[in-house]
Amino acid sequence: MISVHNFPSPRICCIGAGYVGGPTMAMIAKQCPDIPVHVVDVNQHRIDQWNSSDLPIYEPGLQDVVEEARGRNLTFSTDVEGAIKSSNIIFISVNTPTKTFGIGAGRAANLEFIEKCARKIAECSTGHKVVVEKSTLPVRTAEAVKRILMSSANNATFDVLSNPEFLAEGTAIADLLNPDRVLIGGESEAAVEQLASVYGRWIPRERILTTNLWSSELSKLTANAFLAQRVSSINAISALCEATGADVDEVARAIGTDSRIGPKFLKASVGFGGSCFQKDILNLVYLCEHFGLNEVAKYWEQVVTMNDYQKKRFSARIVRTMFHTVSDKKIAIWGFAFKKDTNDTRESAAIYICRDLLEERARLTIYDPQVPESQIRAELTAVFQDTVGGLSEHHQRLIENNVLVSRDPYEAAKDSHAIAVLTEWDEFKRLDMTRVFHAMHRPAFLFDGRNILDAMHLASIGFEVHSIGRPSYRAGG
Ligand code: UDX
Ligand code: UDX
Repeated sequence: MISVHNFPSPRICCIGAGYVGGPTMAMIAKQCPDIPVHVVDVNQHRIDQWNSSDLPIYEPGLQDVVEEARGRNLTFSTDVEGAIKSSNIIFISVNTPTKTFGIGAGRAANLEFIEKCARKIAECSTGHKVVVEKSTLPVRTAEAVKRILMSSANNATFDVLSNPEFLAEGTAIADLLNPDRVLIGGESEAAVEQLASVYGRWIPRERILTTNLWSSELSKLTANAFLAQRVSSINAISALCEATGADVDEVARAIGTDSRIGPKFLKASVGFGGSCFQKDILNLVYLCEHFGLNEVAKYWEQVVTMNDYQKKRFSARIVRTMFHTVSDKKIAIWGFAFKKDTNDTRESAAIYICRDLLEERARLTIYDPQVPESQIRAELTAVFQDTVGGLSEHHQRLIENNVLVSRDPYEAAKDSHAIAVLTEWDEFKRLDMTRVFHAMHRPAFLFDGRNILDAMHLASIGFEVHSIGRPSYRAGG
């Protein structure tokens, strides 16, 4: 058992006001009204949004948590230096995207922002600070961070901790309030305990796990790799279900009742997305290759390969089913976010399905309840860009002429030849599908990439329904 220490009262800052930093700090501030929490970011626009009633991220329950603490002990600003100086616990929560250039391109994490943060902390700090890695990082990054911090000219001293975040977008507030576990990795028992005592204000102690630094860093990559692997496993089976006439949801239910397997994370889909799964697996693959563990690297890489296959399979099925051509046909895309209850579109399967359909010259009308048009267009532009950021005239024309963004699902579906459901938003289950059907061309195709709609009921209305890993249905059998 860790002994009780006399810590200085915590004063927290977090560099990076993104999907992780923002909600996590808001929750700490809500639960610990006496602890000042400064969230800082280089992006002025993002900070302005955090200070407004129009938060930069859509996350159920977040607005209430922010409003309770903001102005009391939670502040958002771009004053990175000031926040570092006035804090004794500094979270680093900046993004670590997959490298797009140089050594390890397409696999390794780009640590540029982490290094810049560490240098900034070294430059501005005096006294003793606890630096907490919140960003998901390759194993042994803490070592590099420590070396940079030690170069501080002000005789400041540091402890480095790894405290990976396990929240899932869309359920971030519930996950933060009641996490399965909090993981803290570090060498200094006192620093670990100081951070544990912050979380201990609302999380039972037995759920706060402590490990060494490297175990903590690796656990985050491993957790995401295992979760993504489950999705790829059930998606692999969905292909076999389509070939054999089995129903993947029935298979998932049957295997999920085995307590060793468990029912969660077995929902077949058009493919996983999000900022973490693919990036973290590629990171793991790179790490294995670095240590000469080529078989291990190949094993994990297959999870991403299967996910790419699942996305390609879905768009190819749309084209094949619609008489081998979607050219000049209108397809309504329902849902663009990578999952429901978020406005995040990073690595969303929808981006790749839309790309494939646009390459086939389909006309798309996209509806998502939370994703703004500018973001949809930016994602589609990025997916067509070449490695140096160039966009051909042909692709530019496709995005300009063949993509419409609608604010209404009925309008998006009007006069369409097909609907593709790409995000499992609850509102899609409540739509008047008879009304939708009557506004569409015949045959009215519906491709349910999330298996959320009642295919038999839709077939009785007149739709021809194709889902993931389930038999297809059309009117009259
Ligand atoms: C990111 C990583 O993707 C994830 O792996 C990690 O666990 C936590 O950080 P997220 O919060 O979703 O997750 O990223 P993002 O929403 O992009 O936010 C990062 C923020 O850091 C951005 O607002 C960016 O402006 C800011 N930033 C980046 C800085 O303030 N300083 C920098 O030097 C770089
Ligand atoms: C994930 C991890 O769950 C979280 O612990 C970590 O901190 C960050 O990465 P997130 O990406 O926000 O969280 O969402 P998650 O619920 O894990 O979904 C990821 C993707 O997998 C989504 O595209 C989702 O639609 C898909 N998915 C998930 C499925 O296709 N089927 C499932 O059964 C579960």
